[in-house]
Amino acid sequence: MLKKTDIEEKLKLVIYPGFQKNIIEFGFVKELEIKEHLINIELDIPSSSPTIENQLRDEIVKRISVLEEVEIVVTVNKPSLPRETSSHGKNVLPNIQNFVMVSSGKGGVGKSTTTVNLAIALAQQGKRVGVLDLDIYGPNIPRMMGIEGEQPIFLGKNIKPIMAHNVQVMSIGSLVERGASLIWKGAMVTQAIEQMLEDILWDKLDVLLFDMPPGTGDAQLTLAQSLPVTAGVCVTTPQKVALDDTIRSMDMFKQLHVPIAGIVENMSGFICPESGKEYDIFGKGTTQPLADNYQTKVLGYIPIEPAIREGGDSGLPITVLAPNCETSKRYQTIATKLWSTVLQVNQEGGVNNEKIQPTIF
Ligand SMILES: Nc1ncnc2c1ncn2[C@@H]1O[C@H](COP(=O)(O)OP(=O)(O)OP(=O)(O)O)[C@@H](O)[C@H]1O
Ligand SMILES: [Mg+2]
Repeated sequence: MLKKTDIEEKLKLVIYPGFQKNIIEFGFVKELEIKEHLINIELDIPSSSPTIENQLRDEIVKRISVLEEVEIVVTVNKPSLPRETSSHGKNVLPNIQNFVMVSSGKGGVGKSTTTVNLAIALAQQGKRVGVLDLDIYGPNIPRMMGIEGEQPIFLGKNIKPIMAHNVQVMSIGSLVERGASLIWKGAMVTQAIEQMLEDILWDKLDVLLFDMPPGTGDAQLTLAQSLPVTAGVCVTTPQKVALDDTIRSMDMFKQLHVPIAGIVENMSGFICPESGKEYDIFGKGTTQPLADNYQTKVLGYIPIEPAIREGGDSGLPITVLAPNCETSKRYQTIATKLWSTVLQVNQEGGVNNEKIQPTIF
């Protein structure tokens, strides 16, 4: 006789398409019932796509069938209409015109660094900009923006963002004790993000940038389902190993209907401060074929530069410290290109994703 735990173990092998987590971790399995040789499984999924439904059904049957010969009935509950998300969704924060998600498949590639410098570059170009640090596992935007330890002002249950380098900033890091180990379960992530979106009192913003945790998980899913994300920026490094993770990240944007603004190739080459000569360390230009594949562009190449790391550590990002240096100019160009995608999405309601047959959510 099969046990519930045996089946659950098998269901943990069923990864939700486009993401890294399985259907148990996401909490999509609502019912699991064993009646002699009949197994009933009921799923609640956020996608209305028949492809995803079929993929899940096949995978579940395949995984459980190896245990014993049983009849398996999988009921999949889906939103009845294509779920309004991303660039087509309803804006629950009418004070904010655009939302940009900065993601990467892999940790430590420079998402937060890119987010802060892009935000500052956009502010230097006259935009009203906010940054929301959604990296619940390792929020480091406060340190990078020089507001570590600064407490935001609470107005009842609402919180006012902190102004730093002309950017409105809020981080889950400002709301928890420094160094507190942040071990969050899926549902807590969703709840925390929904709460933050509700409670923060942003002034009028042209754009809010989200610094995401690495990978593809609850935070990304929650955000894309809560707000009409105007565009996604994918940060990667040029090594081949990082590129595999980048593919996952691009697929995720596709699944979530987030128009892809492009890729930032970070730690791309090293410019010798003495000679000004550029050297390849991890490689350079390896992301172009990937961008082509997703009908998007490389927004820019940011070199490895000690001043970037020092800027991050000291709270004075390079775009503030040395706004006219080569790297800051590159951030400015990336910001300009990102903004042109944002405008395009606003005008046309989408950019490149139509061509790559998005999954309907
Ligand atoms: N181009 C660069 N040159 C030099 N140092 C860099 C560069 N980009 C990022 N760094 C440094 O690398 C480290 C990791 O960067 P960062 O924290 O931005 O990555 P992340 O993708 O946000 O990481 P995590 O996945 O942990 O959130 C930081 O110390 C940062 O200062
Ligand atoms: Mg980070």
